[in-house]
Formats: sequence, structure tokens, C-alpha cells
Amino acid sequence: MRKKITIPDILQMKQDKQRITMMTAYDYPFARLVDSGGVDAILVGDSLGVVFSGHDNTLRVTMDEMIYHTRAVARAKPRALLVADMPYMSYHVSTEEALRNCGRMLQEGGAQAVKIEGGMNMCHVIRAVTSIDIPVMGHIGLTPQSIHRMGGYKVQGRKEQAERIMDDALAVQNAGAFAIVLEGIPAVLAAEITTELSIPTIGIGAGPDCDGQVLVIHDILGLCEKYSPKFVKRYAELAPVITDAVTSYVEEVRSGAFPTKEHSFT
Ligand code: KIV
Repeated sequence: MRKKITIPDILQMKQDKQRITMMTAYDYPFARLVDSGGVDAILVGDSLGVVFSGHDNTLRVTMDEMIYHTRAVARAKPRALLVADMPYMSYHVSTEEALRNCGRMLQEGGAQAVKIEGGMNMCHVIRAVTSIDIPVMGHIGLTPQSIHRMGGYKVQGRKEQAERIMDDALAVQNAGAFAIVLEGIPAVLAAEITTELSIPTIGIGAGPDCDGQVLVIHDILGLCEKYSPKFVKRYAELAPVITDAVTSYVEEVRSGAFPTKEHSFT
């Protein structure tokens, strides 16, 4: 049996210059499939609010929804490290509330680590959470929970903003995060941050020089037809495959071709 991936394994991968692969999963069957594909980490991302629940953004996702999905993924007993996103307003009100909610994600959800969006502004939370041995993955740059401040999903850290993103990265590392997602920032800046930090950087829309990459499973499988960001590579086109299968079923039931004796009990 392959060995379960741990936080020290992820840190070692940066030392060994071995690229880290992370992919989202929100339920038991996809967790099994993603884990079989060999990823190093599974992220139960709050992107589920968009690609699973059909909301326009991630702000509507609740703690209880995240725990429900994290539990389903944990039941697949993945070899991959299991990281769960902390949803909007679960860690913003007070440090006490953040600690309780992050603890719930490990205790009730079965996650090994939590992901928290924010840079210098969230370091007090990251410091408190890591001080009670809850591993934290940071997330800076284009942080989807800040959609209203950013005025949409826009690339962050261009020109004079670059210094602030670098400061965010250093602050998150110093606050105790074991890894950091860099989303939607120029490739050159992501490369500089990756060189500067001792913790692994995991990029999404941040170019090829991060220590690892993460993508949303629905995006790579062509299941999210609404919108496909520039940084997504579609490795399969499953939407027409699924629609065709359903159409065949509908036609066969209507024509009487299904079910046959083969699918019936005597
Ligand atoms: O919610 C999510 O899936 C994420 C990744 C895209 C990094 O935060």
C-alpha cells in the first residue's frame, strides 16, 4: 500500500525540487478518482460553491457545507494530503471563532490541514491557528473571497502592487503556514516568491515556476461550461460524453430498448 502523504512530505518535496500536484474534489467518487490519478494533495475548495452548487461566487459557502463535503472526501481515505478551505466569514470575526471553526474542519471533517485566504491582514489568524497545531495553507494574490474589493476575478500584483504581494507571502510564511497558494499573479512575481520562500508555493494562474500547481477538477474535465479561465487546461471534454449517455438512456426508455431481460429479475 502507498504511504499516506503528510505535511513533512510536502515540505520535503520543495527541498527535493519535486513538483507538488494538487487538485480539488468535493465528494467521495471524485476523491477516489483524483487520488487514483496520483495527486499529492486534494483540496476541498470553496470553489464548490460555484462549480458544484451553482452560485456566482464562493461567498455563499458555509462551514456546515464545507464540513459535509470534506467528510465525503475523507471517507475515500485518500493517500493524498487532505486540505479543506475555510469558507468566507468562518475565520474573519474573531480569532476565537477562527480557532473553533478550523478545529471543526479537522475534528468533524477529517481534514489534515486548512486553507485560509489573505496576506498580512490574516496573519494574526494564521499564527493563532498554527499555534494549536492545525496546519495552515495560505492563499494570496487573486483571493476569490475578496471578489468585491478586487472588482472581479482580476490578476493581482502587477507593477507597483508586486511588492505588497511579496510582503503578503513573507508574512504568511512567518505566521507559520506550511505552504501557500499563489493565485492569479504574474509568472515572474510567482517565480520570485518561490525563490524567496522556504515553504512550497502552489500556483494557479501563476506560471510554471511555482513549487506545485493546483486546478479545479470540474475545469480540467470540461464539466464547467459557463466560464473557462485562461490558466485552465482542459484534459478531457466530459460534458458531451455525459449528455450523450443521458440522451441514449432517454431514447432507449422511450423506444422500449431498455430495460431488456438482461436488466430484469426472474
Ligand atoms: O477553492 C478552490 O478551489 C481554491 C483553489 C482554486 C486554489 O481555492
